[in-house]
Amino acid sequence: MSSFSTTFTLQDIDAAAQQFWQFAHTCRILAFSGEMGAGKTTFIHALCAQLGVEDAVSSPTFALINEYRFPTQDKEQIIYHMDWYRLRDTEEAINAGLEDCLLQKDAYCFVEWPEKALDILPHPYIWVEITSITATERRLTAELKQ
Ligand SMILES: Nc1ncnc2c1ncn2[C@@H]1O[C@H](COP(=O)(O)OP(=O)(O)O)[C@@H](O)[C@H]1O
Ligand SMILES: [Mg+2]
Repeated sequence: MSSFSTTFTLQDIDAAAQQFWQFAHTCRILAFSGEMGAGKTTFIHALCAQLGVEDAVSSPTFALINEYRFPTQDKEQIIYHMDWYRLRDTEEAINAGLEDCLLQKDAYCFVEWPEKALDILPHPYIWVEITSITATERRLTAELKQ
């Protein structure tokens, strides 16, 4: 299966996050595209909660990277949650050390505003688009990019 889609409200976002993870978990890099207010941060927070991230999941709006951890059977997994909204270009991304996080072999990276530095996203990645249907409903589509 190379694509996935769902619609959800805040009431059923946890179930949507769980289904999405079944599709997405084998890929290390997840890129979340969508307009301001579409629900990227909200969905990532729901996903992190599903995974058992216990640190208070704060928004990276003022930080380029937040680091979260969750336990799995064999080890603790790292998630880098990045928001590239404020980045100007790829060069700034590289100077900020974002590439090093992206290339860390056993860490997940959840990236908001990936368009800002598409060139540094390592393949394969999952391209996720979130759009508003109504004030309360969102559509999420996801596709594996080899
Ligand atoms: N089904 C939904 N999924 C996600 N966010 C929703 C939903 N319905 C309403 N919202 C609201 O939309 C806003 C989304 O904001 P946010 O997640 O910060 O967006 P983004 O990170 O894409 O800019 C929040 O205020 C959230 O409460
Ligand atoms: Mg956001």
